[in-house]
Amino acid sequence: MLKNQKFHDFKLPDMQTFLYPADLGDLRKALDEAAEIKQDRYKHQQLGHNKTALLIFFNNSLRTRLSTQKAALNLGMNVIVLDINQGAWKLETERGVIMDGDKSEHLLEAIPVMSSYCDIIGVRTFARFENREDDYSESILRQFIRHSGKPVFSMESATVHPLQAFADLITIEEYKKTARPKVVMTWAPHPKALPQAVPNSFAQWMLAADVDFVYTCPEGYELDAQFVGDLKPEYDQAKAFANADFVYAKNWSCPGVTLPDKYGQILSKDMSWMVDSDHMALTNNAFFMHCLPVRRNMIVSDDVIEAPTSLVIPEAANREISATVVLKRMLQAI
Ligand code: CP
Repeated sequence: MLKNQKFHDFKLPDMQTFLYPADLGDLRKALDEAAEIKQDRYKHQQLGHNKTALLIFFNNSLRTRLSTQKAALNLGMNVIVLDINQGAWKLETERGVIMDGDKSEHLLEAIPVMSSYCDIIGVRTFARFENREDDYSESILRQFIRHSGKPVFSMESATVHPLQAFADLITIEEYKKTARPKVVMTWAPHPKALPQAVPNSFAQWMLAADVDFVYTCPEGYELDAQFVGDLKPEYDQAKAFANADFVYAKNWSCPGVTLPDKYGQILSKDMSWMVDSDHMALTNNAFFMHCLPVRRNMIVSDDVIEAPTSLVIPEAANREISATVVLKRMLQAI
């Protein structure tokens, strides 16, 4: 286990679920496994023979959809992809509701039916911003975990995006120039209210890894303690950027920690937070990272994302590697 891994109990990698860094066990071993898979991504082709991955999307995706399918194919699995909102029955997710509206099927029947066709389930289901408690309890994903009887992994759910954060960590491991780099996650403006899943996971994984992690945001955007522990944000973005080796930009809406009544809302569109070359000049010639998709000239300027120090493409490519490690671990646990 790495030095700062502390937010969840240490677990052996007999993975039935994948939401948090602790689900992978020793992160050093997971990174070594990722490097080995990158050398030969088809090495474990036999592991998935006659096994089926079902990837269920309640929300849009480009990278997760493609990279997770590719990972399953790397392991010799069959893959079924279901876009719930395109062709499936509209699903009710709350128990006790009189289903006299437009929702024809309940998740409580749909989950065991879907699980009967597969061996491992991936679910993408974003925060709905209707109720913080529902979102922060991962109510939809938890129903899959409870009622499917199959290993379940988050492909970005209400509060976490672990496949992204693991790919980000793999990328930092590949590009770091010092043993313990300074990694800065910065809030940046966006026209729409976005979930906190990516920043939550990125912070949680960085705090579990061997890096010096700082996050910076305007007041009101403080992240939940279950992901950042007692780490407080640096509100002065310029101060945070000093000596940074990696800058990770991301927008998120109000997490409702210090302002509970503002949960899921946009508190600021301050364009001075956009990452441009003046910001990057404050750093230690830092690499730029973003999970994509990104709004150019809102989150990051054209010149920064197009610079040789931009890692957005290798980072996205590493999504195949993180997903291959996770599916491999899950296949080994079946
Ligand atoms: N970064 C990421 O998860 O991309 P998609 O939403 O396109 O899958």
